Amino acid sequence: FTVDMDANAADKGAYPFYMLKEIDEQPAVMRRLVSEYLDADGQPMVEEQMLADIADADHIYIIGAGTSYHAGLVGARMFEKFAKTPTTVHVSSEFAYEQPLLSAKPFFIFLSQSGETADSREVLVNVNKNHWPSLTITNVDKSTLSREATYTMLLFAGPEIAVASTKAYTAQIAVEAVLAKALGEYLKSEDAKDFDLKHELATVANGMQAITDSKDKLEEIVSHYLSKPRNAFYIGRGVDWAVSLEAALKLKEISYVQAEGFASGELKHGTIALIEKGTPVIGIITQDRTAGLTRSNLEETQARGASILTIVSRHLAKEDDTVILPDVNPYLTPLLSVVPAQLLAYYTSLGKGLDVDKPRNLAKSVTVQ
Ligand code: G6P
Repeated sequence: FTVDMDANAADKGAYPFYMLKEIDEQPAVMRRLVSEYLDADGQPMVEEQMLADIADADHIYIIGAGTSYHAGLVGARMFEKFAKTPTTVHVSSEFAYEQPLLSAKPFFIFLSQSGETADSREVLVNVNKNHWPSLTITNVDKSTLSREATYTMLLFAGPEIAVASTKAYTAQIAVEAVLAKALGEYLKSEDAKDFDLKHELATVANGMQAITDSKDKLEEIVSHYLSKPRNAFYIGRGVDWAVSLEAALKLKEISYVQAEGFASGELKHGTIALIEKGTPVIGIITQDRTAGLTRSNLEETQARGASILTIVSRHLAKEDDTVILPDVNPYLTPLLSVVPAQLLAYYTSLGKGLDVDKPRNLAKSVTVQ
């Protein structure tokens, strides 16, 4: 099916909650982004002047809040790998009042599903005062952050209604990948040339579909491991850590389980004291270099009574792993590893009889600082 931007696209249809519908739409969003941003030969279709402006910069500053900040953590790695441009990621509410010492020629990328987050806008106002060039990556055309930035790239994800962001997160990462490839090609990086994004995003779409097709398994896992505990941990290294932060945010937002995402290696420096019999610890394992280390960290928690679950790329999988993900380029694994985490959060919330789409105390778009 296609993802439409019209109001009908926001119809829940047969779904009990928008969140589940939006999780299921992710493969279609990936395919839509391929058709919007990559030509028949897989070359990115991105504004040339924007690439020239970013190429002219010596540092990319990514600004975002909540889930958008987490998507930035994934994107930064791609800008450094494929476009060889130093990139740092900042929480907008902090950056606005504790601005770090900036490089001589900064370029700013604002990530915002709604394009209306007040904290992010506060940063953009200052960026404009200083005449620094900027790009907003957003789902909402003509939103404030889109209108006020130099450039805009749209997410084409269709309206996202559930407060907990799902398809906007994966769309943000995919658009960052497009931009990293485009900028890398512009800068003549070999890594960018070899990055077959069209093929990778098609693989991602099929992989997402396979995961959402096996939802029942995730619902069952929730009933065994996540329905009772008051707290839970996601752990990973590198890009898996970035996803751990987002996975934990999903769980706490809608199921009220106190969840934290941790760098696997940091857990033993304090937080492991919280592990009790039955505490769920979920390891995300998609990177060759660190898979063994994260597995040892999981074992350390298991020895202290934790219930271990794993989300693992196929080529790294072992017999007892919980969720096996299709293999994809190592920079794009977040597009797949986050999907089971979204579903685990969904079913935990559902099982508790909570309002999945409208969790307590939260707003879809936060327009106060
Ligand atoms: C709110 C939403 C989050 C979102 C964050 C940033 O807190 O509940 O889901 O990640 O705002 O929103 P934005 O629209 O800027 O991505």
